[in-house]
Amino acid sequence: MYTHLTSMLPPHSFKDKTVLITGGGTGLGKSIATYLSSLGANIVITGRRDNVLHDTADEISKATGGKVLAVAGDVRKIEDVENTLKQAVDTFGRVDVLLNNAAGNFVSPTERLSHRAFESVIGIVLQGSINYTLTVGKYWIAENIKGNILNITTTYAFTGTAFTVPSACAKAGVMALTRSLAVEWGSKYGIRVNAVSPGPFPTEGAWQRLIPESLKDLVDPAKKIPLKRVGEHQELANLCAYLMSDYAAYINGADITIDGGEWLMGAGSFNGYLNIPDQMWDMLDAMRKSKS
Ligand code: HXC
Ligand code: NAP
Repeated sequence: MYTHLTSMLPPHSFKDKTVLITGGGTGLGKSIATYLSSLGANIVITGRRDNVLHDTADEISKATGGKVLAVAGDVRKIEDVENTLKQAVDTFGRVDVLLNNAAGNFVSPTERLSHRAFESVIGIVLQGSINYTLTVGKYWIAENIKGNILNITTTYAFTGTAFTVPSACAKAGVMALTRSLAVEWGSKYGIRVNAVSPGPFPTEGAWQRLIPESLKDLVDPAKKIPLKRVGEHQELANLCAYLMSDYAAYINGADITIDGGEWLMGAGSFNGYLNIPDQMWDMLDAMRKSKS
């Protein structure tokens, strides 16, 4: 049976492709890496924790039989970024796709933040994506490779949000990077650049920082999503894999939201009426008709 929990693309869709995934050792990056590996891709994962990366690389290889290279490094340090690309090319011969997925985030009233707290999140999310995009993009241009980039942003990149303001600023910057380069590098070099904006997809990294147990009733994501559930990693992996694959050859500069309708639920002026029971609509109807 084919559902959102099953693989969407045909086997071997990524045969002979190498995909470099920042933050691929955990969470959504790990899930996407696992799926791409099952579709035949060579995978390169990077993050700061060497042990986490190597455990993930072993786990994926065992599950899929694919090749996974783990390279420890910080996306904020350009020498680490250059080293990751060099090791990837030395190992697999080339890199075809870049997934900018690494992120840093936490919740806090903005007036409590130091400038270094802002700098930390902007450094990982925005400067980190820029560092990888520039390094891999220059390599593609020099080698005449028509690669593609997928950036993981989030819905509050376009709505803004209280209490994770550094992340909102950084993700909005990544969105601007996506749309700008889709035109510039798309026109000049045939390099596609797209983004995916997920709503809530439970991961340890995000949940422990953003939805601590003691506060979870205040922001329980499933309660404010029209489809009344959080996302499943496979459905996000399906979307990301499609956008990075050659099936999406004409998709460039897109930002695809995958959030069960969450951000629109908060936006519509009259969405609060969802709480009105049918009997009350019946009464309102009866009152209207009695007046006409
Ligand atoms: C206020 C904080 C803070 C917090 C750190 N700082 N945590 N300020 N509240 N909770 C401040 C520190 O005091 C310091 O400022 C500055 O930030 C840098 O702190 P470091 O610990 O040195 O930073 P660093 O080692 O670079 O770690 C980065 C990090 C950390 C972002 C702080 O959480 C991290 O490594 N995160 C990686 C994984 C992650 O965040 N995953 C979740 C992604 S989820 P001072 O002034 O004291 O020096 C996501 C979901 C989006 O993005 C959408 C969900 C729906
Ligand atoms: P996660 O598991 O915490 O993933 C973040 C990854 O980034 C970690 O593997 C981390 O590894 C890496 N990273 C952080 N700082 C880094 C640095 N300086 N250099 C290199 N790597 C670094 O969280 P996640 O939920 O899977 O998030 C993945 C992506 O999805 C992020 O872009 C996030 O904003 C986005 N997103 C998530 C959700 C959600 O609901 N989960 C919703 C919308 C968007 P190290 O700590 O080892 O470096």
